[in-house]
Amino acid sequence: MIESDLEYFWNAVANDWDIQVGEHGDTNRRFNSDPVLWQFASDVSGLVVLDAGCGTGYLSRQLKQKGAVVTGVDISEKMIVIARSKSSDVDYIVGSCTELGSLSDKKFDMVIANYMLMDSPDLESTLHAFNRVLKNDGIAIVIFSHPCFPQGKKFCKSDNNEIVYVWKNSYFERRQCIEPPWGHFTSDFIWFHRPLSDYWKAFKRASFYVDEFEEPRITPEHYHLAESEQQLKKHQIRPYSVAFRLVKLADIG
Ligand SMILES: C[S@@+](CC[C@H](N)C(=O)[O-])C[C@H]1O[C@@H](n2cnc3c(N)ncnc32)[C@H](O)[C@@H]1O
Repeated sequence: MIESDLEYFWNAVANDWDIQVGEHGDTNRRFNSDPVLWQFASDVSGLVVLDAGCGTGYLSRQLKQKGAVVTGVDISEKMIVIARSKSSDVDYIVGSCTELGSLSDKKFDMVIANYMLMDSPDLESTLHAFNRVLKNDGIAIVIFSHPCFPQGKKFCKSDNNEIVYVWKNSYFERRQCIEPPWGHFTSDFIWFHRPLSDYWKAFKRASFYVDEFEEPRITPEHYHLAESEQQLKKHQIRPYSVAFRLVKLADIG
């Protein structure tokens, strides 16, 4: 996969992505993963933070509101154009996370990759780049779609009590996936399936220590956000994502 192809796919969904996440994130982010993200990040005031694969920037804007000095980077120029139109006090860059070529070594206290790693064709290079741009003892928070519960492969019974997953390939087979449009989207999605153990091993190879791990799900203090019993149940019974808090142990050169 060449990066211009990747950019093509993400440019095609940029406007619809902005509708999906808006200012506050979609239901999965608000109900499940954002509370974990903020718990892992703790107080970001005064920190220099990279939002890696920032999309249209809902998280960059929230980081900025909480007092962080924020850079957002995304491979899609269209995503960045939308992000820039919504906030002038975040530094937005068009670029690939596999290199982060325009960013200097040890610039950041924290890197957050919010639903980006499963979209990156080169996991190892991306984590090496995160290591390079982080200060010593810097933190990476990575949240990505749970590879054991692929949303595009599931069928729910109408009452949501039974979910059937259809696996045409081996879970252990690494592969590029093209997902047809869902919800209000009109373009395909591209992502890269790899087993969970690949991520764990790649974190270690990039000299990260796993400090926290969570499979985000709605917790009682957020139950009131659900619009129906059915919606609440959907978010209680399976994880959409995995969340890791990683600590940089050493430079890897
Ligand atoms: C699922 S979206 C998530 C966007 C944003 N983090 C959010 O939560 O709304 C994935 C984003 O990662 C970007 N992306 C994918 N691969 C990338 C790469 N190698 N380098 C930089 N950005 C990338 C896409 O353009 C897209 O905006």
